[in-house]
Amino acid sequence: MQSRYFEVYGGWQQDPEGFWGKAAEAIDWFKQPEKIFDPEQGVYGRWFVGGETNTCYNCLDRHVAAGRGNQRAFIHDSAMTGETRTFTYAETLIEVQAIAATLLDLGIQKGDRVVIYMPMVPEAVFSMLACARIGAVHSVVFGGFSAQELAARLNDSEAKLVISASCGLEPGRVVAYKPLLDQAVEMARLKPKNCLVLQRPQLRAELSAERGELDFAQTVSKARGRQVDCVPVKATDPLYILYTSGTTGQPKGVVRDNGGHMVALQWSMFNIFGMKPGEVFWTASDIGWVVGHSYIVYAPLLTGNTSVIFEGKPVGTPDAGTFWRVVRDHDVKVLFTAPTAFRAIRRDDPDGELIQHYDLSGMRALFLAGERADSETLRWAEEKLRVPVIDHWWQTETGWPIVANTVGLGLMPVKHGSPTQPMPGYALDVLDDEGKPVPRGMLGNIVIKLPLPPGCLVSFWNADDRFRDACLKEFPGYYKTADAGVIDEEGYLFVMARTDDIINCAGHRLSTGSMEEVCAKHPDVAECAVIGVHDATKGQIPCGFLVLKNHVSRETADIAKEVTNMVRSEIGPVAAFKTVMVVHKLPKTRSGKILRGTMQKIADNMPWKMPATIEDPTVLDEITTILKENGYAKDGGSLKQSA
Ligand code: COA
Ligand code: AMP
Repeated sequence: MQSRYFEVYGGWQQDPEGFWGKAAEAIDWFKQPEKIFDPEQGVYGRWFVGGETNTCYNCLDRHVAAGRGNQRAFIHDSAMTGETRTFTYAETLIEVQAIAATLLDLGIQKGDRVVIYMPMVPEAVFSMLACARIGAVHSVVFGGFSAQELAARLNDSEAKLVISASCGLEPGRVVAYKPLLDQAVEMARLKPKNCLVLQRPQLRAELSAERGELDFAQTVSKARGRQVDCVPVKATDPLYILYTSGTTGQPKGVVRDNGGHMVALQWSMFNIFGMKPGEVFWTASDIGWVVGHSYIVYAPLLTGNTSVIFEGKPVGTPDAGTFWRVVRDHDVKVLFTAPTAFRAIRRDDPDGELIQHYDLSGMRALFLAGERADSETLRWAEEKLRVPVIDHWWQTETGWPIVANTVGLGLMPVKHGSPTQPMPGYALDVLDDEGKPVPRGMLGNIVIKLPLPPGCLVSFWNADDRFRDACLKEFPGYYKTADAGVIDEEGYLFVMARTDDIINCAGHRLSTGSMEEVCAKHPDVAECAVIGVHDATKGQIPCGFLVLKNHVSRETADIAKEVTNMVRSEIGPVAAFKTVMVVHKLPKTRSGKILRGTMQKIADNMPWKMPATIEDPTVLDEITTILKENGYAKDGGSLKQSA
């Protein structure tokens, strides 16, 4: 089939408002929007102004009313416990109403914030939908984050309630959530009034009524059977806040609205992912990430699909065949995950032998996002699965793909290394640092012409100026993606690297700046730098360099251990901060800037040039030596080119 992509993208270019107005017809509105787009509102304009709707209504009630009540909405498959539970649309509606009733009883009203800090259990997803139902704003915090990160989110969102669980299940260990929650509440400047805690049988938590802690199941069961109507919200009202790593310190609270979000997600499910109502869609991610928000929870329900909620890992739970077991057991049509999951599977099962044990004939496509998909991994997946493997590029900020190949509109030819072409709504440019467009084929800053399409962030929570400064100021008229890349002669985009301090570790977005902030707190550390270095499975992992204070005579190994423990406890295990090297000096420019880019190139064995402004070139010799001792920079010295 010839792809309809160019025709559809061209249609959007000619009449953006007409395009999105038409897409909005797929959503049920309590009150139709007065304007498709109003450039006068918000930071860069707002979509579907005057419209009233409810996201939970569109995800559940309208499907039940249309006769989809007996279809499965969710399949919870836990490779950690071996259990599978299914919930029809009608059952999900009952559960969501019971939680919504509980929230109302606890005094949560439209606009109030609720933090959800839970593992991959159905109650987490129901809680998100319950918030949407009553117009409360959820903020999901990934379970692998520390108490301190949770406290920062409690403070910034000023949440009145936390919904959590007694524990999460990681391979070989039960992660006790309650002590982390207690510490976070203790640290938080603004304490939530209540905590609803789901008791899991693997580890029960002690709850204190005095501190407003309630047993989730007991409390919700009292409300089961109650009917709670969907609260009409404005299309422009916030549905959720999702915090993501900023360049340093404070995480950025990405705000998503109700109307534009639904319109964009619904469009993407049919046209990009090629799903038909009633089919099973599986996003193997976590609800703590944007991929989970959009494609585990909201998009599959908006389009009447069945979504798999998977608790487990691609390998080791119990083996590299788990994904294929889930695809076969639940007749998954489209699987979406991060390239790192495939690198891990390929590492454990290089010939794809386990794939042969399962009938995967129902699967139509594999989508990969979250980090650069390397050609080796793409080729392996294509060869072993014999389905189209689609790399697509997006960010927490955009909420849905910026650049993709379109299964629903017909596929375009694939170029490995490129996520293909921009989706309707996104006009891309590649600019040099002065803001001038670079010629086709040249590397530069990838920017998106304003306005951003429906579904993208409207601002940062309570921080319009920070949003303007971080994303809109450097290239006037554009949103800065902070990714660098190339657009080729045929309009294919190649995303090459971040232009800020963000690294992508196992598909998780991490700020090396915040790791440096933690390392610098150690009393023996005078200076530090954290860079991302290549890792065969995780893509990148953080690597810290410490310069110790002059008087320090302790064992450097002890200090390195203490620093890694500090990062684990202050940011979380997800930071995967395990590689630390102690050096005498850090390479710097004469104006004092640490040459992190050069260090990274040396570590990753890439060609590098001696920076003309370097203060002391000999410092790089020590860096190269220590990197080599740790298994990096294999040809570091020999690849050097002089400036
Ligand atoms: N709660 C608590 N701890 C968690 C956690 C959670 N929800 N998720 C991860 N962690 C911990 C892990 O247990 C691990 O701890 P450890 O250092 O004690 O071993 C640490 O955080 C790092 O986790 P992770 O990055 O997941 O590495 P891993 O070695 O456990 O697994 C992969 C590696 C590649 C199998 C795994 O990262 C993976 O499946 N990635 C898919 C990525 C993904 O879904 N990305 C979302 C965007 S699409
Ligand atoms: P996150 O906000 O966590 O989804 O991370 C977004 C970042 O991940 C992007 O800005 C990119 O740097 C990177 N990323 C996501 N998808 C891709 C992709 N398909 N190719 C290259 N990089 C990607």
